[in-house]
Amino acid sequence: MNAKLTMVAASLALALSSAVQAGEVEVLHWWTAGGEAKAAQGLKASLQAKGHTWKDFAVAGGGGDSAMTVLKSRVVSGNAPAAAQIKGPSIQEWAREGLLQPMDAVAKAEGWDAKLPKVVSDVMKFNGQYVAAPVNVHRVNWLWANAAVLKKAGVKAPTTWDEFFVAAEALKKAGVIPLAHGGQNWQDFTVFESVALGVGGPEFYKKALVQLDAATLNSATMDKVLETFRKVKATTDKNSPGRDWNLATAMVIKGEAGMQLMGDWAKGEFLAAGKAPGKDFVCAAAPGTAKSFTFNVDSFALFKLKNSANQAAQRDFASAVMSPEFQELFNLNKGSIPVRTDLKMDKFDDCAKQSNADFLATAKGGSLVPSIAHGMAVPSAVEGGIKDVVSQFWNNDSMTVAQAKQRIAAAAKGS
Ligand code: BGC
Repeated sequence: MNAKLTMVAASLALALSSAVQAGEVEVLHWWTAGGEAKAAQGLKASLQAKGHTWKDFAVAGGGGDSAMTVLKSRVVSGNAPAAAQIKGPSIQEWAREGLLQPMDAVAKAEGWDAKLPKVVSDVMKFNGQYVAAPVNVHRVNWLWANAAVLKKAGVKAPTTWDEFFVAAEALKKAGVIPLAHGGQNWQDFTVFESVALGVGGPEFYKKALVQLDAATLNSATMDKVLETFRKVKATTDKNSPGRDWNLATAMVIKGEAGMQLMGDWAKGEFLAAGKAPGKDFVCAAAPGTAKSFTFNVDSFALFKLKNSANQAAQRDFASAVMSPEFQELFNLNKGSIPVRTDLKMDKFDDCAKQSNADFLATAKGGSLVPSIAHGMAVPSAVEGGIKDVVSQFWNNDSMTVAQAKQRIAAAAKGS
């Protein structure tokens, strides 16, 4: 073969091999709000840069309840996507069904174990093998506030629940809604768990809501938590039922409301609206929780696929998710911090830097706790049961604290 022919053959072989390898990755997620969609776009672009096709399987609905319902029906009909946003103990539930694809070849080659906190890698593995790839660490126990509105009301971001109610009163007097809230059960619980952490402290939180210890769930501290939670409701507006979380964030952005208790995906909304942290808006730990960190790790579980080109694309997807470039770009838009512990934080704002420092400090000190509202702590059936009671209590002023307490304890037992 002459030299020219050899070159043509070589480039043909290359084209062919990439054609064979180019596959489709269908990705189920619920990142449809402004900041979320911007963050997801980066993942799509990095997959496309590798020659693969991205098939978007977005199911709107904050917190992912609708996405999980749709996923179940797709899997039952034998048509699982390549990757689905599944988190916490649910990863094990899916893996136990034999549906997830071990990714150890990629994880070992890239040294994932050394790059991830153990509290995260343990959750990503089933029988010692990675079946999911983590994206980020969201902190849930945040309070977001409109800086100009706080100033107008003459208050600072509250650091205790007592201060919160004083600030709420001042905001009301200044003519704004104190707390923007969306009445959906995952949002109710997002507020509830911050109240539980702030009022009861991390030990109480872990015993009651993670270990589901009956005595702690029935304790007097639980009464205080529920009473405080009910008082928080009085700081929200009557149009909150059913409102999406990002619309609640928009109320704070526009100055119609003063504060929101929400995870740091809310920051993605402020940033997407062109607002600057520390100037236009304030991020502060939820009242009473500055020394704790409620974590929520987004991750993609990888489903078993039949087509070999799609399997290759799925491996590239897992690798892209863990790549330093993706982790940085995605998290800059999403409001979270990279889950890899070996990345520099220089490009991140002060809220993210604070989150990163607190994540590391609380991991050492024992006050790093999983978010129940976001599927990090307990089996999904128990989580659903407890969330329902908490929302019923929030919505129904005639339910007493004693009744709520007794029903939460029953739901924790799975009854
Ligand atoms: C997810 C976030 C998402 C938020 C609102 C949380 O459960 O972890 O990634 O932005 O829900 O949809």
